[in-house]
Amino acid sequence: MNKEIHFPKNFWWGAATSGPQSEGTFEKANENVMDYWFRTKPEDFFNGVGPTVASDFYHHYKEDLGLLKQIGFNSFRTSIQWSRLIKDLETGEPDTQGITFYKNVIAEAKKLGIELVMNLHHFDIPVHLLQKYGGWESKHVVDLFVKFARVAFEEFGQDIKYWTTFNEPMVIPEAGYLYGFHYPKYIGKGKEAVQVMYNINLASAKTIALYKSMNLPGQIGIILNLTPAYPRSDSEEDLNASHFADDFFNRSFLDPAVKGKFPETLVKVLEKDNVLWDSTEEEMEIIYHNTVDFLGVNYYHPKRVKAQEHPEKYINPWNPDKYFEEYEWPEARMNPYRGWEIYPRALYDIAKNIQDNYGNIPWFISENGMGVEGEEKYKDTNGNIQDDYRIEFYKEHLAWLAKAIEEGSSCFGYHTWTALDCWSWNNAYKNRYGFISIDLETQKRNIKKSGYWYKKVSENNGFLY
Ligand code: BG6
Repeated sequence: MNKEIHFPKNFWWGAATSGPQSEGTFEKANENVMDYWFRTKPEDFFNGVGPTVASDFYHHYKEDLGLLKQIGFNSFRTSIQWSRLIKDLETGEPDTQGITFYKNVIAEAKKLGIELVMNLHHFDIPVHLLQKYGGWESKHVVDLFVKFARVAFEEFGQDIKYWTTFNEPMVIPEAGYLYGFHYPKYIGKGKEAVQVMYNINLASAKTIALYKSMNLPGQIGIILNLTPAYPRSDSEEDLNASHFADDFFNRSFLDPAVKGKFPETLVKVLEKDNVLWDSTEEEMEIIYHNTVDFLGVNYYHPKRVKAQEHPEKYINPWNPDKYFEEYEWPEARMNPYRGWEIYPRALYDIAKNIQDNYGNIPWFISENGMGVEGEEKYKDTNGNIQDDYRIEFYKEHLAWLAKAIEEGSSCFGYHTWTALDCWSWNNAYKNRYGFISIDLETQKRNIKKSGYWYKKVSENNGFLY
């Protein structure tokens, strides 16, 4: 092919991680849900590996940020753990060790010229708030989150120019309340899921309101996992199914974040089914007036959707599956390790959607990546993993993104998941995603072939495809 793929000046090249998945639990003031889940049920995690040490970013942040610089990063996202920054969750009194740690990370990134994007919530609510108040089901917890955000803004607001309130907030109702693959691991709690969805939107808007009121020198956004829902056919039933899936799983956060209101079509369905959230006019005003400055989009795979053949199964208790069903698209190309479809064109479709329907708000890819099991088998004699499959994966996705930018999309960066292999509640360290591998025994870091490749992409602001 040999086409030159180019990106705009000052394009962000980097990756994302999160506090709970990389830092380890050293010297934390409180326990988050993942820490608690592992402590009480370690058998749920691949090879019994938990977040206790993780990638030990807590002790390795200098070395790690140095490595990121070495592979061409000009930007990097991580998150502040609520459970590390705040000692007294009720009053918002901070923990001095927590403050020191994040100050050190911020200073080091600054020294290296890496723009830090700081996120405030990566599925890591302190477990105490779940046990005492029901977590995100509670509006009191919404206000406690805003107290935590205030401390973060006061302490770090002069140095951090890009904040995000939540990472993939939809995962909390979806995986925690509907399908049982994230703590608290409920299944089929449709009504609660809807309230959690609303409360997190409210928390995000209240946090944005606070940020704006503090006149800090930066911007604030949100990170959403946007999963295009492609219908099986053009039949009315399949199209309705894909609209519902889009409303529920994408637009329930995208619309309030960017437009300040929920999709009317979604509200109608929830009202009709008697599961609409509890809200007040005052809260709706807050959501309306506090939209984001920019958007981060995490994309891994699409949804393939068809009409639900057995809606009656899902009526009581309420479940969104009443309106759609996922199916295996016969043409799907699968990642054999993670079981997710690889469909790079979706990046183009997402970009067009933002351009056409969301005012072309500035946005960046905040996560995109390929998890692979057993990468050691691709090691060369120097111990560097030859992950050509990952380079291919990134090239294909970037090519579609570049096309969208050529056609006017306001995308300003590309962050992968992830920089250094990190822990996850689904996989522990089974599927590796990083540009840099980690030996869990020795904590030794090694740059993979994709890391060296990314350095060139960042230097040239593009590549030959
Ligand atoms: C995203 C999350 O959904 O996917 C990350 O923001 C997560 O936290 C990543 O680790 C990869 O998913 P997984 O389950 O394969 O680790």
